[in-house]
Amino acid sequence: MTVIVISGGLSHERDVSLRSGRRVTQALRSRGHQVVETDVGTDLVPLVRSTKDPVVIPMLHGGLGEDGALREVLGLLGVPFVGPTGAASRLTFDKSIATRVVANAGLSVTRQVALPHDIFRELGAPALMQAIGDQIGYPLMVKPSRSGSALGALKVADQESLATALVGAYAYGPVAVVERFIEGTELAVTVLEGDNGLRALPPVEIRPTSGIYDYEARYTAGATRFVTPAELPPETLRAAQELAVAAHEALGLRHLSRTDMVVAADGTPIFLEGNVAPGMTETSLAPLAFEAAGMELGEVFSSLVERARG
Ligand code: DAL
Ligand code: MG
Repeated sequence: MTVIVISGGLSHERDVSLRSGRRVTQALRSRGHQVVETDVGTDLVPLVRSTKDPVVIPMLHGGLGEDGALREVLGLLGVPFVGPTGAASRLTFDKSIATRVVANAGLSVTRQVALPHDIFRELGAPALMQAIGDQIGYPLMVKPSRSGSALGALKVADQESLATALVGAYAYGPVAVVERFIEGTELAVTVLEGDNGLRALPPVEIRPTSGIYDYEARYTAGATRFVTPAELPPETLRAAQELAVAAHEALGLRHLSRTDMVVAADGTPIFLEGNVAPGMTETSLAPLAFEAAGMELGEVFSSLVERARG
């Protein structure tokens, strides 16, 4: 068997993906696996097709990796791969669609609206921005519907700052989501599939020094304090883990996912987003959860590779 780790790609999260890919490759090699590391390009399909007994790990963040496109191709080629299918990835990567699916499953979500760029031209920006303020309220969050690592995401305190935030989100794609900002404790809960079904790992609490968990706070060593398991009552931790498992199921995910959420003042965990290719860098959340659960990165991916092979 040869494991093919695909990382890089042309999304805005290319650098993060290269770091994740490197780390997973090293962890698997240290356990004796034969691993080929590659990027996305015209030689990818020939490489996969000419490899004997391949298993692919799509360690791509954003773009082709998380939007399901590459996973569809792997499915087409009949090659086993780690992580959610193309269809489930496409659905999960779009925050507005994922939020709807999770809400329909009866889980708690934040009040949100998805606004394609063109609607501002059709209806006029001032009227629409006024309606957003009236219906969603400040502070609110503006995010690109399809992106990751908080790129293009901004907390907006008042109407004066809304237009700038929207322009920032539209730089990453044609649809922006605007949602109510929920004051509370931000958590990330990793769900891992094993022989005994789905297991939610210890919730990781995110405490960015700057107060906002933006790109810098995510990938600069020391910029965020992580507390695992989160310092919350046991029943809240359980509710957070239940939410992550229920979201994983509602979104049709498999093998591994990470659900990001916020625990509101009343103790209710509220779904923010699902991640089909959680980051595996030195400052990423899922590896902290593995560690807290007493598992090594290489051990987790070894077992996922076996699971993918069926
Ligand atoms: N999108 C980044 C890689 C994450 O969710 O970890
Ligand atoms: Mg994400």
